[in-house]
Amino acid sequence: MIETNDLWFSYGDREVLKGVNFKAKQSEVTVIMGRNGAGKTTLLLHLNGLLKPKKGEVRLNGTKVEYDKKSLFELRKRVALVFQNPDDQIIAPTVWEEVAFGPMNAGLSLENVEKALKLVGLEGYEDRLCGQLSGGEKKRLSIADAIAMDPDFVILDEPTAGLDQLGFDSTVELILRLKKLGKGVVVATHDFELAERVGDSFYYIEAGKIVYEGNRPNYELAKKLGIRSYGGKIIISSNAERSGEPTFRLNWNSRDELAEKILEAILKAYNGKDVVLVFEDGFIEKVRRALGELK
Ligand SMILES: Nc1ncnc2c1ncn2[C@@H]1O[C@H](COP(=O)(O)OP(=O)(O)OP(=O)(O)O)[C@@H](O)[C@H]1O
Ligand SMILES: [Mg+2]
Repeated sequence: MIETNDLWFSYGDREVLKGVNFKAKQSEVTVIMGRNGAGKTTLLLHLNGLLKPKKGEVRLNGTKVEYDKKSLFELRKRVALVFQNPDDQIIAPTVWEEVAFGPMNAGLSLENVEKALKLVGLEGYEDRLCGQLSGGEKKRLSIADAIAMDPDFVILDEPTAGLDQLGFDSTVELILRLKKLGKGVVVATHDFELAERVGDSFYYIEAGKIVYEGNRPNYELAKKLGIRSYGGKIIISSNAERSGEPTFRLNWNSRDELAEKILEAILKAYNGKDVVLVFEDGFIEKVRRALGELK
């Protein structure tokens, strides 16, 4: 487990973290949400010792983090941080050199380099120049950097910002795979769709204070805090009177699948996207019949 106890931090005299108590466990995904400037990144930077608390402490598996070279080195082997912007992280010329850099420096075996590339879907990219990768590929490369250290915790700062649907889906899959491998994953995000798909526990941070902790996102509070932009529309249409390309087709083969699609649609709209739900022919009839059955 990684935890912070009564963590205080300021940049100069600007207080940014004000007594943060936070916990993340292995084999779980812990999500941190909050408005721009709330202190998410600042908190993450403490989890692998890049920032030193002004007051309070960080503990890894019960042991208090000290800020000498040796314990920081140990901490960073166990806790890998992936930056919000991959360009802040990528330093080597080629993909292979980039992913091998961390393990090589830490005196670890290089057997994880290939595994990490495979896990993020960049196998075959070994000799490519990092500077020539697409935004989404850079993002995956920066995650491979972290995985190649075989850490206990992977900390992801806004992992889906700027990704398209495909990039989003593969990031979700990757996070769930890391969790299955027993890693603790910590994700800072504004994206409720991501939060719902991967999160086991949720923290909201506002002006440097934890204002919510739970095993479900709290949408009412999120709205009050203004964590996300709103305004996406849900457009409901039938096959006959199509309106736009469907985001989801609704059918009645399985109630679970239907419920899942509707929840996904609501989350997309909540995140500010327009969503078109298209009824398959006969859908309304089926709903009527099903409601009749329920009566
Ligand atoms: N190096 C720095 N020097 C001075 N102030 C900083 C520095 N880094 C961050 N801040 C300030 O600290 C506050 C918290 O920033 P932080 O980056 O932790 O927020 P965040 O929740 O990650 O925001 P975002 O959602 O925009 O990424 C902000 O007001 C920011 O301007
Ligand atoms: Mg941030």
